[in-house]
Amino acid sequence: MTKPIQIAIDGPAAAGKSTIAKIVAEKLGYIYIDTGAMYRAITLKALTEGINMASNEEAGQLLAKTEIDLQPSENGQLVFLDKKDVTEAIRSQHVTKAVSEMAAHELVRLRMVELQQQLAEGRGVVMDGRDIGTDVLPDAALKVFMSASVEERARRRFEENKKRNILTPLEELQAEIAKRDKMDSERIVSPLRQADDAIYLDTTDLTIDQAAQNILKLAEERLL
Ligand code: DC
Repeated sequence: MTKPIQIAIDGPAAAGKSTIAKIVAEKLGYIYIDTGAMYRAITLKALTEGINMASNEEAGQLLAKTEIDLQPSENGQLVFLDKKDVTEAIRSQHVTKAVSEMAAHELVRLRMVELQQQLAEGRGVVMDGRDIGTDVLPDAALKVFMSASVEERARRRFEENKKRNILTPLEELQAEIAKRDKMDSERIVSPLRQADDAIYLDTTDLTIDQAAQNILKLAEERLL
C-alpha cells in the first residue's frame, strides 16, 4: 500500500474548496478537515458570549477554554463546540460576517494551527483553509490554491444557501465575499496567499467533478 499523503487546499471564500476537498478525501479514503469551520465555531461562541471581537487577548482567552471537535459523518463533517452540535449554526450570515475579524487574531491563529497540525499528524488528510500550504502543513505533498471569479463564487454560495433556506441577495453575498477576501488577504498574521510550491487551479469554468478529477490526478502522481 502506498504511504498516505497530506493535501492542502487553500483559496478565497466560496471557491468550492470544501465541496471538492470532500470528494478528493472520499476517493482516497482520507479524512477531510474543514479548518474554516473551526474559525467559525469560535466566532459563534464569541458572538454568543459578547466578548470584544477586536481584542486579541479576549479572543485568545476564550479559545483556551473552548473545545472544538470535528467528526466525520455520512452527511459530511459535523462540528461540535463544547460538545454541542453547531454544524448548521456556524453557517449563518451573522457568523460569516464576523469570522474574518476573529481569524485575524494572532492568539487565535497560533492555537488553531496547533490543533490542526495535531488533527493531521501521520495520516492521509485533505485539509482546506487559507493558510494550510503556508503555515499548517508546509510539508504537504500536494498544495492547491483554488480560486474562481468573485461573481461565480457569489453565485455558487447563493445556490448553496438556497438549499439551506438562507435567502441573502446575490449582490449582498458578492459584497460580503469581496470584503472577506480583502480582510483575509490583508491581515498581518498568516494572510491568505498562495504557497510558492502550490498549484493554482481556477475553477470558474470547471464543474465540481472536473476540479476534483484535476486534484485526484495530481495526488496520484505524488502517490507513485
Ligand atoms: O472557509 P470558510 O469560508 O468557512 O472560512 C471562514 C473564515 O475563516 C474565512 O473568512 C477566513 C478564516 N479562515 C482562516 O483564516 N484560516 C483558515 N485556515 C480557514 C479559515
